[in-house]
Amino acid sequence: MTTKTGTKASATKASAPPRSARGPALAYMAGFGNHFASETLPGALPQGQNSPQRCPYGLYAEQLSGTAFTAPRAANRRTWTYRIRPGATHKPFRRLAPGLLSSNFAEIPATPNPLRWNPFPLPSKPTDFVDGLVTMAGNGSPEAQSGCGIHMYATNRPMTERYFYDADGELLIAPQHGRLRIATELGVLEAEPCEIAVVPRGVRFRVELPDGEGRGYVCENFGSAFRLPDLGPIGANGLANPRDFLAPVAAYEDREGPCELIAKFMGDLWAAEMDHSPLDVVAWHGNHVPYKYDLRLFNAIGSISYDHPDPSIFLVLQSVSDSPGVDNIDFVIFPPRWLVMQHTFRPPWYHRNIASEFMGLIHGAYDAKAEGFLPGGASLHNCMTAHGPDAETFDKASRADLAQPDIIRDTMAFMFETRLAIRPTRYALEAAELQPDYHRCWQGLNRHFDPDRP
Ligand SMILES: [Fe+2]
Repeated sequence: MTTKTGTKASATKASAPPRSARGPALAYMAGFGNHFASETLPGALPQGQNSPQRCPYGLYAEQLSGTAFTAPRAANRRTWTYRIRPGATHKPFRRLAPGLLSSNFAEIPATPNPLRWNPFPLPSKPTDFVDGLVTMAGNGSPEAQSGCGIHMYATNRPMTERYFYDADGELLIAPQHGRLRIATELGVLEAEPCEIAVVPRGVRFRVELPDGEGRGYVCENFGSAFRLPDLGPIGANGLANPRDFLAPVAAYEDREGPCELIAKFMGDLWAAEMDHSPLDVVAWHGNHVPYKYDLRLFNAIGSISYDHPDPSIFLVLQSVSDSPGVDNIDFVIFPPRWLVMQHTFRPPWYHRNIASEFMGLIHGAYDAKAEGFLPGGASLHNCMTAHGPDAETFDKASRADLAQPDIIRDTMAFMFETRLAIRPTRYALEAAELQPDYHRCWQGLNRHFDPDRP
């Protein structure tokens, strides 16, 4: 096997993050949904047209479209790649035996019970990112291009000659433990806990582990690609700001030798042999690109008078549906912030929502639960399932001195909130990590009602 790699941004403004503990610092291009252009060799990107008769350096031109050709311009996503070989140069796919990564959400009845899981362990045997994916829950289907799969991963082996793409949806990856270095067709990006990485539908990639192991959460979005929400009266700035989203610069592997390409297609995994790396894109331009975002840069906005707004105020990214204002998926975070509202019960109120909520915790503690919801764990509150602060949190917040702000620090919780009910998998319901006594956190909420004391 021979391997050469190349990385270089050309004619693009790149921002370099701090040098990581291992390996060279990666270069990125800033902006959400931008039409980027990047090349690793001077002149590798054809000028003035997409498909010349002969591409520079003997490259092949190939378009990867992420939306229908005729999608409205604001939603249209596609990228032109200039690569050593076309993407079709692989042997036939063979279907792999079903594992724990699934898009079958109807195998067992959905439950209205609130559910919560302890953190899942790291693998005990060598497991790469793809093999370490297990499906916790989901809804809709890849075939309908609606809904999502909610997965967790635990991995301790880097992918080297193994590559993956997901035809069923884009992947929003939230590391909780350990960094991921994601080498994609369009370049390399690295994400650490409190950052997310998004790999678009169809983009091929492999995952390295700078810290030797990793654990985290994945939302597989079968629907429309994640976008930034409109801000309405908030104005032109706030929440997740576009310039904080970072796309990689072009990078390629000139690697000859046996490789395996894994595809997720209509819920199943398929494998095909290749004799070279599929990450052989020397130059590209377009807006169907992977990106990363540091959740700590989220500009949280909240009440400075009384009560607190609906949690949509913490919306980072949305996958819109055909119904205005009703999203396929909302990716919401609960970051460090100050609570200063007066005359108010400051934690989240008790609620029953039409939307369904799958939560995870990257680190710290979540302000609605005093205990039991742990980093690396998860919870599920389905459509119309009643939930809210536990008894200890209620008692404390009811007596809190509101003259003082509540400073919520050192935490990062998130929620995949979906339009459709979320159906846990058999794996999730039979997992040893499922907490059988979760419902008890509300059992201590005693009556305080006294008709003689207004
Ligand atoms: Fe909730």
